[in-house]
Amino acid sequence: MLRSDILQYVYAGLFTAAWVFGLYEIEVIASGEAGLSALNVSLAASTLFLLGIVLLLGPLSRLFNRFDWALKYRKELGIMSFFTGLAHVYLVMFPLARNGPWGLYTSRPLSAYPGLEALIVLFILFAISNRFATRVMGAKLWWQIQYWGARAAFALIAFHMVVLKQKTIMSWLIPGDVPMTPGVVHYPPLIIWETQFVLLILVIRLSELFGVKAARIITIVMSISVLAMMAWAMFLR
Ligand code: HEM
Repeated sequence: MLRSDILQYVYAGLFTAAWVFGLYEIEVIASGEAGLSALNVSLAASTLFLLGIVLLLGPLSRLFNRFDWALKYRKELGIMSFFTGLAHVYLVMFPLARNGPWGLYTSRPLSAYPGLEALIVLFILFAISNRFATRVMGAKLWWQIQYWGARAAFALIAFHMVVLKQKTIMSWLIPGDVPMTPGVVHYPPLIIWETQFVLLILVIRLSELFGVKAARIITIVMSISVLAMMAWAMFLR
């Protein structure tokens, strides 16, 4: 492995650690409780954000040159997302499991199985992320598997989290549903950021259907709107 390859893994690892740590801190403030459960949520959310960033880098670099430098990190970030996803699944199936490793698959099959399928897809992408696999499969097939695999995993994760957390999402969307103490800043749960992020990615990817100019405007407007929505959710609700 070349020195530059190793450096890319180091940077991607540090970037991942910063996400896990930052989201952990936010989750601790939002839930009021530090510990394994908050770490679990931050690992799950980091997986979604990392994979989402991998999917966003393509359109962002096509629309704005300033993102070109980041394209080379797609593989490493995808691999990191497999490890954070694996850690999340380990925590929910073992240390945090209330009814044994398979309890969730019986009680919440509609969300647990898509989650597991997402992990399997990420594992396959990880397993073929090397020069040997590229040579054996041929560059075209390899690229197609990576391309569709990343999209399938992201869709499965989005479905998994929305099904699992639909009550929390709805209660934050309906004003007055969440009890608030006046004068206290209430951080929304991470699932609200995650849902907005999924929407952002969907819109940006679809925007390219309308041509480069329109896509640029939609991307800028949508990014500002999501940031404004986050600020609204955090400070003004
Ligand atoms: C790569 C695979 C997976 C990813 C990326 C993933 C991602 C997520 C995300 C984004 C959330 C929402 C976190 C939040 O509340 O903000 C979540 C929650 C959760 N997931 Fe997964 N998930 C995966 C697989 C699984 C599997 C296989 C199971 C079940 C065995 C599972 C069980 C849970 C549980 C119980 C929660 C709720 C955690 C809590 O609120 O404390 N996940 N997951």
